[in-house]
Amino acid sequence: MKSRNIEAQERWQKNIQLNYGTPQLSLAKGSGSVVWDVDGNRYLDLLGGIATTVVGHANPTVVSAVSKQIRELSHVSNFYMHEPALKLAQKLTGFTGSDKARVFFCNSGAEANEAALKISRLTGRTQIISMEGSFHGRTTGALSMTGQSAKRIPFLPLLKDVKFAPFGDIDSLRRLISRRVAMVILEPIQGEIGVVVPPSDYLKNVRELCDRYGVLLCIDAVQTGMGRTGEWFGYEYSGITPDIITLAKGLGGGLPLGAMITVTENAPAFKPGEHGTTFGGNPVSCAAGLAAISVIEKKELLVRSKKVGGLIKSEISKLPGVVEVRGAGLLRGVVLDQDVANKVVDLARAHGLLLNAPSPRVIRLAPALTITDAQVREFIKKFAFALKSVREEKIA
Ligand SMILES: Cc1ncc(COP(=O)(O)O)c(C=O)c1O
Repeated sequence: MKSRNIEAQERWQKNIQLNYGTPQLSLAKGSGSVVWDVDGNRYLDLLGGIATTVVGHANPTVVSAVSKQIRELSHVSNFYMHEPALKLAQKLTGFTGSDKARVFFCNSGAEANEAALKISRLTGRTQIISMEGSFHGRTTGALSMTGQSAKRIPFLPLLKDVKFAPFGDIDSLRRLISRRVAMVILEPIQGEIGVVVPPSDYLKNVRELCDRYGVLLCIDAVQTGMGRTGEWFGYEYSGITPDIITLAKGLGGGLPLGAMITVTENAPAFKPGEHGTTFGGNPVSCAAGLAAISVIEKKELLVRSKKVGGLIKSEISKLPGVVEVRGAGLLRGVVLDQDVANKVVDLARAHGLLLNAPSPRVIRLAPALTITDAQVREFIKKFAFALKSVREEKIA
C-alpha cells in the first residue's frame, strides 16, 4: 500500500509550484521539538520551521493566546488600532532601548526588508550596500539586496543601485561607501548561506563608517532575532545601535509576522500613505508574538539559548569529520570536511531527526529555544550516528 507521504508527494506535484522541489515528508502535528508525519513517524526537529518556532510547536501559551484572540477579533485592517499590535510594538521598542524606536508591522522578512529599502529612499539617496552571500528575501526589492547570484540571475534586471561588499571585510566596505549611499544592510550572522559569522569588531567598524558618511545601518535580524543567538536581535554583543532593525521568523512564534523598526533619529519616518499592507501586524499574529515573548522571558530562554548552543558546539565539534561548529546560541552551522551535508540530512531523517543543509558542507541547526536536555542528547546521538554512517560509506 502507498504511504501517505508518497500520496502527499503526488498531490503536491500535481497542484503546487515546484519552487521548493518536492519535500520528502508531509507533517501532521508537532509538540515542542517533536513532529510527526502523516504516516505517524516521529522526528526530532532541529530546524524549527527554519528558525521560526522559537518556543516550539503547539506551545500551550501560544495556542491559548491565539485561540482567545481569534475568538475575539481576527482582523481589523490598518484603519483601526488594536491592543495586540500596541503591546507588541511597545515590547519591541523597549528591547531596542531607544525611545525614538517606531515599528512598522508586516507579514514576512522580505516585506520587512522592502520597508527598510523604501524608507532609505526617503533620505534622498538611492544607493544600497549589501553583503556578498547575504539573504534578505525573494521579493524584487529584497532580492535586489540579496548577495547570492544563483537566486538573482533568473530575475535580472533587478534594482540597479545596489553594491555588494565581501561580508566581514571592512576595507572593502570602506572602498565602496560614500555620501551617495542611503543604507548599508547586513545580517549579524549570515544564516542562509551556511551560518557565517563576521569578525567580532566588524559591526562596530561598519557603524563607524556609516556614521562618517551619514549612511543608515540596517540590521537584518530576521533569522538571528527573537532570542535565537541569546540576544533579542543578534547584534547587541557588538555594543552598536543600528538605525533600522528588520524582524520576522521567530517574531510570530510560528505565525506569519514581520516588523521593520526604525531605531534612531537618523532613520526617516513614513508619512501617512507612503507604505502599507492589509494583513501586517494582524491581531492573531501579534497575540502569538506576545505569547512567544512571554515564554522567552518567563523561561529565561535567552540564557538557555546560549547555554544549550554552547553545549551543542562543544559536543558536535568532537565528532570526526566536523571541521568547525560556528554561529551563536541556537543558530549553528556544522562545517564538515567533505561535501556530504545532504547525505547526512537524508540519513538523519530516515532515523527520525530533521536537519537542513544550506550548503554542501554545512548543516544548519535552528531548533526551538525550548529544546529539552534529553532532546539535545537524542540529537547528538542521532547526528553522530548519521555522520559516522555517511563517512564510512564515503571512505569505504
Ligand atoms: C536574514 C533573512 N532575511 C530575510 C529573510 C526572508 O524572510 P521571509 O522568507 O519571511 O520573506 C530570511 C529568510 O530566510 C532571512 O534569513
